[in-house]
Amino acid sequence: MSWIKVFSPATIGNIGPGFDVLGLAVKGLGDIVEARKIDSGIRISSIKSELELSKNPTKNTAGIAAYEVLKLLNEKGGIEFKIKKGLPAGSGLGSSAASATAAAFATNYLYGNKLSKQELILPATKAEEKVSGGFFADNTAPALLGGATLTRSCLPLDIIKIGSISDLKIILVTPEIFVLTKTARKILPKKIPLKNFVHNMANSCLITAAFAKDDYPLFARSLNDVIIEPVRAKLIKGFDVVKKNAIKAGADGMTISGSGPTVFAVTDSSRKAKSIENAMVSTFKKFRVNTTSIITEVDSEGTRLINNS
Ligand code: HSE
Repeated sequence: MSWIKVFSPATIGNIGPGFDVLGLAVKGLGDIVEARKIDSGIRISSIKSELELSKNPTKNTAGIAAYEVLKLLNEKGGIEFKIKKGLPAGSGLGSSAASATAAAFATNYLYGNKLSKQELILPATKAEEKVSGGFFADNTAPALLGGATLTRSCLPLDIIKIGSISDLKIILVTPEIFVLTKTARKILPKKIPLKNFVHNMANSCLITAAFAKDDYPLFARSLNDVIIEPVRAKLIKGFDVVKKNAIKAGADGMTISGSGPTVFAVTDSSRKAKSIENAMVSTFKKFRVNTTSIITEVDSEGTRLINNS
C-alpha cells in the first residue's frame, strides 16, 4: 500500500504567562512522518533522530496517537510509520507533540479522513500525556491547527484557534541543556500570590486579544510571566543575562518556550532579529553553553500533508 507524508510544526507552549493555556505553532522546524496502511498492528519501522528514541509503538507518541485514533474510528486495520525528527526531544519546542499530531493526522487520513483536526487533538494529547506526565494541549493544539490556540479546559477538551500575528519575528535559541518536562513541572509552586495571578491573567488575556487582532505591539507588551518564568529560569544557565542582552539588542521581550530549555525573543523587525539572535547566542557562549538558533515566524497552517517526492 502506498505511503503518505505528513509534516507537523514545532510549537511554543506556553506563550509566556499563558501556562498550559496558550500555544503557538512556528515555521521552519518540525517532524515528518511517513505512513501507510498495514493489515494489523502499529509498527514504527524507522526513526531518524539525533537522540535514540523508542520504536516501541506503546512508548513512542506517534504509536500511541495512532492507537488512539484507530480506537476512535473503530478500525481493526494497522499502520506503519517512518519518522524523521526535525526537533530535538526535550527542547521545549513540542517535539513529542509534533510526532503525535503527525501520526494522528496520518492515521485518520489513511482511514477515510473522518475526524476533523479539532477531533484529533484529544488522541494526540493522550499520547503526549504518556511521556510528559501532564495532560495539556498547548503543544498538540497549535501543532494541529496552526497559529495561536487557547485551551479553556482539558477535560472535556475545549480549545479554540485564536489567530496569528503577521509582523511577529521569533528568535528561537536552544541551549545544549537537558530539561525534562516532568522535572520542570515538579518545581512549580503550588500556591501563588493573588497579585501574581492577576498579573499573569491580564497579560494572557491581552496576548489572546493580540493574536485575534493581529496586533504586534499589544503582544510585545504582554509577554510577561511573573509566576513560571522566574522558577524555571533557574534550570537554564545564563537565562537572566541572555534576556537582558536580548532586550538590549532590540527585543521587545524574551521568555522560555514550554518547559525549556529553548528560549524565544520577539521583534517585528527582520534587521533587529539578526542582532538579537547574535546577542543571545554569544551570551550563552559566555556561560559555556552551546546553542542552535533560528529566526522564524508563525506557522498558520499546522499539521499537513506534504509532497511525497
Ligand atoms: N505547558 C507545558 C509546560 C508544556 O510548560 O509544562 C511543556 O512542553
